[in-house]
Amino acid sequence: MTKRAFGIDIGGSGIKGAPVHLGKGKLAEDRVRLETPQPSTPDAVADTVAELISSFDIEDDMPVGVTFPAVIQEGVALTAANVDKSWIGTDVDALLTERTGHDVFVVNDADAAGIAEMEFGAGRHSTGVVQVFTLGTGVGSATFVDGRLVPNTELGHLFLNSDAARAYEDAEKYMASSVKENEDLDWEPWAERLQEFFAHIEFIFSPTRIIVGGGVSKKHKKFLPLLDLKAEILPAELRNEAGIIGAAVLAHREEKALRKAAKKAAERGV
Ligand code: BGC
Repeated sequence: MTKRAFGIDIGGSGIKGAPVHLGKGKLAEDRVRLETPQPSTPDAVADTVAELISSFDIEDDMPVGVTFPAVIQEGVALTAANVDKSWIGTDVDALLTERTGHDVFVVNDADAAGIAEMEFGAGRHSTGVVQVFTLGTGVGSATFVDGRLVPNTELGHLFLNSDAARAYEDAEKYMASSVKENEDLDWEPWAERLQEFFAHIEFIFSPTRIIVGGGVSKKHKKFLPLLDLKAEILPAELRNEAGIIGAAVLAHREEKALRKAAKKAAERGV
């Protein structure tokens, strides 16, 4: 039987999920999308996640990886930039494990997308410092050093220093793709904002490769060539499915690590 895990991507407007074929890094079945309940409280979202999983016929012991747009430490949400504030302090792992009956592992959404790109997409075989950014309602970031994730880098919340950027509080309010839409910016003025952001990132981290994802990356030809950076800058390859795939990969890894730890403990007679 091929190795599978289930991936779920929780976003502001939709909750999407599917079983993932871990060898290929592809969805094993068509994904299902349900509307994110409004208000998107932990209780309501947990019910929707359980409904989504139960629409698939999967094994009871299949691990489930879930992305969430917040800082996640030990399964707990510590921030809530674009979701209901009542998530702050919620043990998302515990809540979703209890509600779905599966072992759930939660991860920041950009970190999950980054994991998928590093395993199966534009980050394959890359070493050194590689950064993945998701441009959407907010801006997510995932930082890798020789393939290992430095979790929760939250670079969308950098403060930028130009007079224009300062007026926006933090970077994502100035250069997310939602800002392009809301302010009706053409590609060039938007790319100028991206240039300011990525030049600053480059100054701080010196990444060798920057991977740009999020829905707008479908149109990467319109804006990536306008950027002038030392790092190689590439569009994400997995796009829409990166979160689901990365979450499933992580759930599988975590489960393996837990099983290994349990085996060691048993051997020691703990
Ligand atoms: C959040 C991040 C998230 C990003 C993309 C930001 O506002 O702080 O945790 O990764 O949006 O959803």
